[in-house]
Amino acid sequence: MIAGNEFKQRRKRLTRRMKKNSVAILPSAEVAVRNRDVEWPYRQHSDFHYLTGFDEPEAVAVLAPGRPEGEFILFCREFDATKAIWTGKHAGLEGAVDNHGADQACPVGRLAELLPGLLENRERVYYPVGASAELDGQIRHAINEIRAKSRSGTQAPTEFIVIDKLLHEHRLFKSEAELALIRRAAEISAQAHVRAMRFCRPGIHEYEIEAEFLHEITRHGLRAQAYPAIVAGGNNACVLHYTGNSDVLRDGDLLLIDAGAECDSYAADITRTYPVNGHFSEPQRLLYELVLAAQLAAIDTIKPGKRWNDPHDTAVKVLTKGLVELGLLKGKVGKLIKDEAYKPYYMHRTGHWLGMDVHDVGEYRDDDGEWRKLEPGMVMTVEPGLYIDAACDDVDPQWRGIGIRIEDDVVVTESGCEILTGAVPKAVADIEALMGESR
Ligand code: GLY
Ligand code: MN
Ligand code: MN
Repeated sequence: MIAGNEFKQRRKRLTRRMKKNSVAILPSAEVAVRNRDVEWPYRQHSDFHYLTGFDEPEAVAVLAPGRPEGEFILFCREFDATKAIWTGKHAGLEGAVDNHGADQACPVGRLAELLPGLLENRERVYYPVGASAELDGQIRHAINEIRAKSRSGTQAPTEFIVIDKLLHEHRLFKSEAELALIRRAAEISAQAHVRAMRFCRPGIHEYEIEAEFLHEITRHGLRAQAYPAIVAGGNNACVLHYTGNSDVLRDGDLLLIDAGAECDSYAADITRTYPVNGHFSEPQRLLYELVLAAQLAAIDTIKPGKRWNDPHDTAVKVLTKGLVELGLLKGKVGKLIKDEAYKPYYMHRTGHWLGMDVHDVGEYRDDDGEWRKLEPGMVMTVEPGLYIDAACDDVDPQWRGIGIRIEDDVVVTESGCEILTGAVPKAVADIEALMGESR
């Protein structure tokens, strides 16, 4: 749980960094309809959650520094006793003030009417420009209303600034409370991966592995996945975002599972690849150990002062050298890297920021256009892979139909990094031992 005071500090930090005489406006996520009158489970927009901790739809947060009647105005749904009977608790205006730190709460239906008053005589508005047609329209309408009475001396804002850059820079650095939630998401997801690994055997379906993962995270109270699980047997692993999860797992194939739970809006993101029957064949083991070596070397580079791209460059070097040694690439390693000859087999990057969004926000380059330096409190994934599709007829048949990715989550510390997902075995001997126990 993030304490109310932390949300308040986040709002303060944002408004302190905004230029003088500005207002910030942020809308909640909309409810998504699945079909007819059935909705997808509601997930608050990560930016909105980050600043408010208020997880209801139909809400707009306004931050107006220096406003005498209150700086944090939360527009939200009024309490409705009938709605409470049908769909449960909601804060209402009183709850928004008493339990969610709003200085003032107003019915969301009055936003259009009250917005001009909140924007007049402010010079600039920070908001997610272009992200919501409805909010864009409401702001445009408010501006025009203020302009219409300019003869009375009221000024309309003249600058509209995308709020994302400022806000996302804050989100990139995780507080202790945020790290605790990511740790819990990681720890439970790791247990769920171990459960899936133990359960794996030839003849079952990919969705049965998914069910094991879901069972374990759900029984710990983590009701949402951070992203749809990828459970890919054999050649399906070569489809990077495979989510069909419906095929039978075959003796002799590998299984790639990329799955992570969400804990109070914070994600884990773990991939393991292991043999369906519990024993790596020789070609599988050779490729697997190459990916593992690349991952370990990449993790080894992570410490403050290193740049974002260093783990990727390291992984590419290890993979390319290994592919030459295995005969999958021919030529000089340096030139092959320069020519990106590895790309047919390794086409994605070695990681991404991790936080409330699985591919979390935050710039990857600094203001000079260089890859940014790593700093304590940043959380990232390290996930090299190799994918040799069954249709790759220019490689020796022994390598075909093998897709491997190994993914862990790490937090950058003062002296290096801490692996949050290390509880799932990834060494060949450890995987074979664990899978052997359940046979
Ligand atoms: N699970 C998505 C990713 O690994 O980036
Ligand atoms: Mn990832
Ligand atoms: Mn992943």
